Amino acid sequence: MSAELDVKAQSILRGNDRGGYTVPTAGLYPYQWNWDSAFAAWGFSTFDIDRAWEEVETLFSGQWPNGMVPHILFHKDDPGYFPGPNVWGAEHKGPIPSSGISQPAVAATMIRKIWERDRAAGETRLLELLPKMKAWHKWYMDWRTVDGAVVVTHPWEAGRDNCADWDSAMAMIDPQGVGDYTRRDTGHVDPSMRPTKADYDRYIWLVQRGKRLDWDDAAMAEDRPFAVADPTLTFILLRANRDLAHMAEAMGEDRSEIDGWSKALEGGAETLRNPDSGIFDAINLRSGEHTGHVTSASFLCWYARLDDPRMREELAESFASCRYPIPSLELSSPDFDGMRYWRGPTWAIMNAMIAMGLTDMGYADEAAKLREVTGDLIAEHGFAEYFHPDTGQPAGGGTFTWTAAVWLAWASPNAEGA
Ligand code: GLC
Repeated sequence: MSAELDVKAQSILRGNDRGGYTVPTAGLYPYQWNWDSAFAAWGFSTFDIDRAWEEVETLFSGQWPNGMVPHILFHKDDPGYFPGPNVWGAEHKGPIPSSGISQPAVAATMIRKIWERDRAAGETRLLELLPKMKAWHKWYMDWRTVDGAVVVTHPWEAGRDNCADWDSAMAMIDPQGVGDYTRRDTGHVDPSMRPTKADYDRYIWLVQRGKRLDWDDAAMAEDRPFAVADPTLTFILLRANRDLAHMAEAMGEDRSEIDGWSKALEGGAETLRNPDSGIFDAINLRSGEHTGHVTSASFLCWYARLDDPRMREELAESFASCRYPIPSLELSSPDFDGMRYWRGPTWAIMNAMIAMGLTDMGYADEAAKLREVTGDLIAEHGFAEYFHPDTGQPAGGGTFTWTAAVWLAWASPNAEGA
């Protein structure tokens, strides 16, 4: 059974391959997405290491001169997707038409995993990528940190598009003048599984603002209408810096600047601890308030190699709360919606990163349990984009690249594990 699923997962990656890069799923997401590609590369590395390197190389081929690696690369125009390149208006900013924001910096961590599978095969390719990864992480440190925590300036930047952590900040935006537009996502997927129209108006309004400011970092940083200090970006970048420093040192390069970034982010991560609950959550920087939501991103602390007894208690609660943890929003929240994207469903990639952290911190039992439930979830319900945390009902897009990739690299009983 699991061998058959391995074959199926490989065929999903091959099927979503568009020549040098994979799309997350045909139709709904027809371009190259940043962190999706990092996971895809991890998946490819289990059966085609050359293709794994190619995936991340194509991703970095879209890097802007300022170091930013865009969240979407529009290699070939596709009218089935909105907002496309002309809405972003960033075609002239980098070598490939792209969006104007970034996404979680998972790539360095996945590149380390690929390289460690076969160091000899990867050495030259790693040497080429090192300065590119460093420039990207520096861009994050220069333009997206406040008190050491990484700030989301558009909900899509954290990869958790409509999560409850953005609600208070989104409510402070008046999307006046956004104008008419036609969404394409709801033509591919049931609207009840997607963000609302109120959310979309604000997403597009923020894109229009970026375009007006020509995506200039300094101009964009003034009077940010949306700014949320976020556990996803902070923990993931901290982990990525640790992996990058390790690889740089192994290649005989100086790691001290990168270690300095990690120190700053460690301080920033501490600011994300909610003083009332002791849980890591987000901060709406325009109001200064913690959001108070326990999300799957809260549990990325171990991935960043930060130990935390309070979060382990919370993890035990999350495990007990549903059949297929970790929900993207805790089930006891009044905002929980088990089928709506980042407001409740379980996402296999988040589980993979959480388990990776648990393993690294020596919590083998919890890591094994998370792997087992995620494996069951995929085996029973398919390679969907995300799943209801209690029923396992598959939702969003099907034949999804990153779900197939984490199956191959981690959740499959035949995988090496995280
Ligand atoms: C959605 C997800 C985002 C992902 C993209 C492509 O926008 O929220 O995290 O990168 O789809 O899969």
